[in-house]
Amino acid sequence: MIIDGKKIASDLLDEIAQEVKLLTAKGQRPPHLAIVLVGHDEASETYVANKVRACHNCGFDATVVRHEVDVTQDELLATIDSLNRDERIDGYIVQLPLPDHIDEQRIIEAIDYRKDVDGFHPINVGRLALGLPCYPTATPQGIATLLDRCHIATEGKHCVVLGNDNIVGRPTAELLMRKAFPGNCTVTVCNGDTGHVEDITRMADILIAAVGRPNFVKAHMVKEGAVVIDAGTTRLPSEDAPGHYRLYGDVDFDAVAPKCAAITPVPGGVGPMTVVSLMRNTLLAATQEL
Ligand code: GUN
Repeated sequence: MIIDGKKIASDLLDEIAQEVKLLTAKGQRPPHLAIVLVGHDEASETYVANKVRACHNCGFDATVVRHEVDVTQDELLATIDSLNRDERIDGYIVQLPLPDHIDEQRIIEAIDYRKDVDGFHPINVGRLALGLPCYPTATPQGIATLLDRCHIATEGKHCVVLGNDNIVGRPTAELLMRKAFPGNCTVTVCNGDTGHVEDITRMADILIAAVGRPNFVKAHMVKEGAVVIDAGTTRLPSEDAPGHYRLYGDVDFDAVAPKCAAITPVPGGVGPMTVVSLMRNTLLAATQEL
């Protein structure tokens, strides 16, 4: 099975839009997401435009707060402070990366965790690890939702996560370790220093690749009948269309797909799910206390 993340994401966005209609029919205002964007990085502009479009498709309000690339850290902290206080804003994100002169962690920790719909604040990261209500980070939640929607059993399965970064690898491992569905997995996390990585990946019932290295996962690294989730998002200039970019996953899809019970393509697999997670977290922020 090729997992159609685009279709699943579109269905989920429709479901969120229905929930928003019910809310507004009861007289509540629509959920409101703010996005802080510093500078004019091309990839960030694209991601932010996608997030704003998703908000509108779901019936949310969206506000983009722009700063020029030379904004000072104090100015940015003042924006964070005003968003924390603004009762019209249910949740917000600061689009990363930030310019080098800004301490990214300092900014993330200034966000009120109750509005941190990216799930980057240490309180949300810790609550995820403890299995407490939280805003999970987008890609891990997207992966878990794909497994759920595709009825892929996780309980007792060996899940191997390639990549131990704080945004995808680690929180995905945490989610799949939780006593929940999807979850209850035996999880192994590999990093760039892991030796004989193919011996470990070949044991995986569920293999999640998040290393940012195009075509890293080859057929000999995958067990027959495994589920392979490709969270790779390497953006490189397109060879076919000059001036455009193409997204590359971590998995050598053509070689690996014939061995798999299920696999996600890139693009059209995990990617479209990340924005759904952001919308889901924003809806949660608008409707419930964490
Ligand atoms: N840059 C790339 N992905 C993300 C994301 O999910 N959230 C934020 N804030 N910045 C990003």
